[in-house]
Amino acid sequence: MNKKIAILISGSGSNMRALIEASLNDKFPATIELVISNNSSAGGLLIAKKYGVRTRFIDRKIFDNNEDYDKALSLLLKEENIDIVCAAGYMKIFTKQFVEIWKNKIINIHPSLLPDYKGLNTHKRVLHDHQKRSGCTTHIVEPELDSGPILMQATVPVKPEDTVENLAKRVLVMEHIIYPLTLKRFILRVN
Ligand code: GRF
Repeated sequence: MNKKIAILISGSGSNMRALIEASLNDKFPATIELVISNNSSAGGLLIAKKYGVRTRFIDRKIFDNNEDYDKALSLLLKEENIDIVCAAGYMKIFTKQFVEIWKNKIINIHPSLLPDYKGLNTHKRVLHDHQKRSGCTTHIVEPELDSGPILMQATVPVKPEDTVENLAKRVLVMEHIIYPLTLKRFILRVN
């Protein structure tokens, strides 16, 4: 069972790298076919190229609206026979239509213990609230932001002296573990 994966990114692409690395194992049930970004200067695009993964930049500026953007994205994914879409630091909200077309086929990773701290600046808000723990969540994408069935979570301690940067780093270490694991289990439907 070898599924074709597209990864959507907007930034540094460390989760994308973790997924590509995992897919290099012969036993991993997926191939990373394509990395797509809405940001031409996303660092992840260079990393993907180094791994020999094809990349595409889709420029929001050439579309009148997000619906048209997502239609073009969807068309590309279909042309490439993509089975599963992994959002990894993709900072663009999917349109309802896109989520409907790719229902139960889009996975996202979020740097908090959902359903807590949806949206942006999660680490800052966690620190502000003096939480003792935080973490990350993988979930199936539904139209409402950072919602949808949870697939996997990992927790990390929050230390009193933490800054946004070192909390983010601690959470990222876990993200890089759970995202490949999530994808593998999602494909094999193992719980
Ligand atoms: C990660 O914290 C991810 O959970 C969030 O954006 C960040 C992306 O990091 N959605 P990277 O681009 O994978 O390094």
